[in-house]
Amino acid sequence: MDGALKTTPDMITEIVLKSYENAPDPRMNLILQELIKALHGFAKAVELKPDELLAATEFLTRTGHISDAKRHEFILMSDVLGLTMLVETMNDDLPEGAFEPSVLGPFYREGSPEIAHYDNISRGDNDGLPALVTGHVLDIDGAPVGNALLDIWQTNNNGLYENMDDNQPDYNLRGQLRTDADGNFAFWTVKPEAYPIPTDGPVGDLLEAGARHNMRPAHIHFIVSAPGFKSIVSELFAREDQYIEGDAVFGVKDSLLVDFVEADEPETAGTYDMPNPFWRMHYDFVLVPGDRATHSFSTSR
Ligand SMILES: [Fe+2]
Repeated sequence: MDGALKTTPDMITEIVLKSYENAPDPRMNLILQELIKALHGFAKAVELKPDELLAATEFLTRTGHISDAKRHEFILMSDVLGLTMLVETMNDDLPEGAFEPSVLGPFYREGSPEIAHYDNISRGDNDGLPALVTGHVLDIDGAPVGNALLDIWQTNNNGLYENMDDNQPDYNLRGQLRTDADGNFAFWTVKPEAYPIPTDGPVGDLLEAGARHNMRPAHIHFIVSAPGFKSIVSELFAREDQYIEGDAVFGVKDSLLVDFVEADEPETAGTYDMPNPFWRMHYDFVLVPGDRATHSFSTSR
C-alpha cells in the first residue's frame, strides 16, 4: 500500500455527503446534506468516543420503547431541547404586536363545552383561587374582532388536567367562548399553578444531566380563532411565577406574560356569586389575517 493515504475524518464526511447527493427530492436532498454536516460536525466538535455513540443509541432506543399512542417521548425531548419552540418561532411570520404562538401540549381536548360571558370553567370542588379573565380580540390595527372563538384549557391547583385526574369533572377547566360584537370576552376560572413535566423516562435523565428542573410556570392555554384570521395556539403565563425564567419547554415569550392582580371587589363578586377577594387577569389577543391552519405540536403539558 505504498503511497496510500490514511483516511481522515474529513474524508469520511466527504464520502458520506457524496453518497447522499443524488436524493431526487430537492428538499430531502438539502435536509440530508445538512443533517450529515451537522451530525459529523457535532461528533468532531465534541471528539465523540465510540462508547458515547453507543450510549446515544441506547438513549434513543429507550426513548422509543417508552413512547406509545399517548406518550410521545421524542416530542418531549424536542421540547426540552428547545427545538419545538425554535421551529415554531422560525416559522411564525407574524408582525410585531400580534399574538404569538407557543406549545400546544398533549392535553388539549376537542369539544369543550361552549360557555357564555362570565361563566365559570371551574366545575370542580377545590380547583383553586377564583380568577376573572377579561380582554378583547383585536385585529392588528386595534379594531375589535367579533365572534372570535377562544378555546381555553388549564390545570387545577394540583397541577393536573382533568383528563389526567379522576377527581375532576369531565371537561373541568375547559371551555369555548366567543367574543361579542365589540371583541370583548370574560370568563371565570382559577389562578393557574406551576406544574412538572414527566421525568420517569429518558427525558428525565436528560434534564438531570443538564441540572435542569422539570417545572412549567403557571399558564392558561388558548387557541384563538376567527373567520378570516390566522388561528393561534398559545399560552399566557403568570409573570410572577418562580419558574418564569426557566420553563422546562421554553414556551415563555415576553408578549405572553400576564399579571394576576388581587381584586377586592365585593360588588363584582356578588354579581357573579363568587368569593371576594378574587384574582383578575386581562389580555388582548391580536390576530392577523390568514387561514385557520396551525402547525403547533408538543407533548409537554
Ligand atoms: Fe399546560
